Amino acid sequence: MQIVSTVSECRRLIKAWQLTGDRVAFVPTMGNLHDGHIKLVTEAKQQAERVVVSIFVNPTQFGPGEDFDSYPRTEAEDQAKLAAAGADLLFLPAVTDIYAPDAKTTVSVSGLSTIYCGAARPGHFDGVATVVCKLFNIMQPDLALFGRKDFQQLAVIRTMVRDLNIPVDIIGVDTVREASGLAMSSRNGYLSAEEKQIAAQLYQTLCHARDAVLAGQPVADIEQHALSSLQAAGFAPDYFAVCRSQDLAKARAEDTELVLLVAARLGKTRLIDNIVFSR
Ligand code: PAF
Repeated sequence: MQIVSTVSECRRLIKAWQLTGDRVAFVPTMGNLHDGHIKLVTEAKQQAERVVVSIFVNPTQFGPGEDFDSYPRTEAEDQAKLAAAGADLLFLPAVTDIYAPDAKTTVSVSGLSTIYCGAARPGHFDGVATVVCKLFNIMQPDLALFGRKDFQQLAVIRTMVRDLNIPVDIIGVDTVREASGLAMSSRNGYLSAEEKQIAAQLYQTLCHARDAVLAGQPVADIEQHALSSLQAAGFAPDYFAVCRSQDLAKARAEDTELVLLVAARLGKTRLIDNIVFSR
């Protein structure tokens, strides 16, 4: 696996591969890699001849008082995992390689970026859309893979790519879960052993709510019940919503393709999860 930190070197290597006819798949990450990230790399290898991974803890997607400074940085372990998974190239830029000090341009996907996690974390999805757009422009990959765990992020990126005619195929990859059902996340490392046990109830609550939707119970009751159960378990929920999977609008009776979205704080850790299903 080659490792580069400059935009020009990254571009040069990818362009050379593409000139020989190789397809390039891109997996953007913020590092502290877990099995969910490795699944993205494994999937990427099945879909393209070359796999490029970036590790960049993007400052613009963290709000004031969030965990940018304490976000886990585990570069040596990450490099070993990526080499073992068969990545071809790791892009490890510094903040100054990505953002000019006087940068004036932000990519913002209106509507989708200010609901749910966007309401709880103002500016977060503008930071995500801007850095992903920049990484796409730097690499010009053929396809890019994102975890479905960050369902709203995936919706923001798909919309950005469509609206800006960015020629990159976006592939969503299923969430990897611990045996308890807890979705894998770099932020799970913040949880104490006791919190980790409680955290598994997030997925259980989603499963119960999905069953209640399929049984035809009223959506408002399901959302209220889920919020109360999470509170009783010790979470401080940000939201629990039954939505249309296509555009995250509130589900109506006639909608068949649904997603349940949840975000909740447990101690100092903010967890998100979702379930996609049809009825
Ligand atoms: O999902 C993440 O890790 C980040 O939001 C991403 C897509 C790498 C952009 O910084």
